[in-house]
Amino acid sequence: MGNQGGAGAGAPARWRGTVADVELDGIDPRRVPVHIGCVMDGNGRWARKRGLPRTEGHGAGEEALFDAVEGALDLGTRWLTVYAFSTENWKRPVDEVRYLMKFNESLLLRRRDELNERGVRIRFAGRRDWRVPRRLLRRMDEALDLTAHNRTMTLTIAFNYGGRAEIVDAVRRLVADGVPADKVDEKAIRSRMYLPDMPDPDLVIRTSGEFRISNFLLWELAYSELVFTDVLWPDFRRANLFEAVREYQRRDRRYGGLDV
Ligand code: IPE
Ligand code: IPE
Ligand code: MG
Repeated sequence: MGNQGGAGAGAPARWRGTVADVELDGIDPRRVPVHIGCVMDGNGRWARKRGLPRTEGHGAGEEALFDAVEGALDLGTRWLTVYAFSTENWKRPVDEVRYLMKFNESLLLRRRDELNERGVRIRFAGRRDWRVPRRLLRRMDEALDLTAHNRTMTLTIAFNYGGRAEIVDAVRRLVADGVPADKVDEKAIRSRMYLPDMPDPDLVIRTSGEFRISNFLLWELAYSELVFTDVLWPDFRRANLFEAVREYQRRDRRYGGLDV
């Protein structure tokens, strides 16, 4: 699979027939992205628009996430990676951070069985540092173990994740492994990233109208197609995912080469 992307490289999509055909209209099942990444942004603004506390927006993001998971399964996407908490999000008020830790812990408990039943393998990308509560780390390990055998789709939750931190951690490993300078190449770095077997994302979607990456998968998205939408994350549904895939399929991926 490698970083050649989804265009023609992925397994044929398995239309599961759980959604109305019309929703999938215009999507070529042979060119579905193998790996989709999502920067789930806009929860706070969604809540503010309703006069609610920011935390309500995070809560409302759960339905969006699981509709996106269903949509990715409908498409036959093999890898879905979602940005849930960045290495910079620790800067937020302590109450919001505490809420997010508890929320993610309870979300894993609530959803792990249904994800498992759907053949989803749950994995995590990020730093397991002292700031992540033990109870949450335990839930993460349980979800990993429970779903480790699944292969329909891999849902990677980027948690306490930073693209720069991931590169720093890879470089630390290179040094710890005693790799000499002339042996440092892309392969040596890639093999020391958090999830070396994960293909690069073909498509990265960011919600909430911001045109930035905010430290998501910096190394991996070198040739990803980026789609930005004004939809705030709690309003995101599989129809929005399908729209992003249509946009992706209109793009021409050249990887620095020329059209043939
Ligand atoms: C994304 O929504 C969720 C996290 C970063 C945890 P935000 O909380 O960033 O919402 P906005 O961007 O303030 O609206
Ligand atoms: C990116 O959103 C991080 C996550 C979605 C987890 P942020 O809200 O933290 O990003 P900025 O601050 O707008 O760049
Ligand atoms: Mg934000």
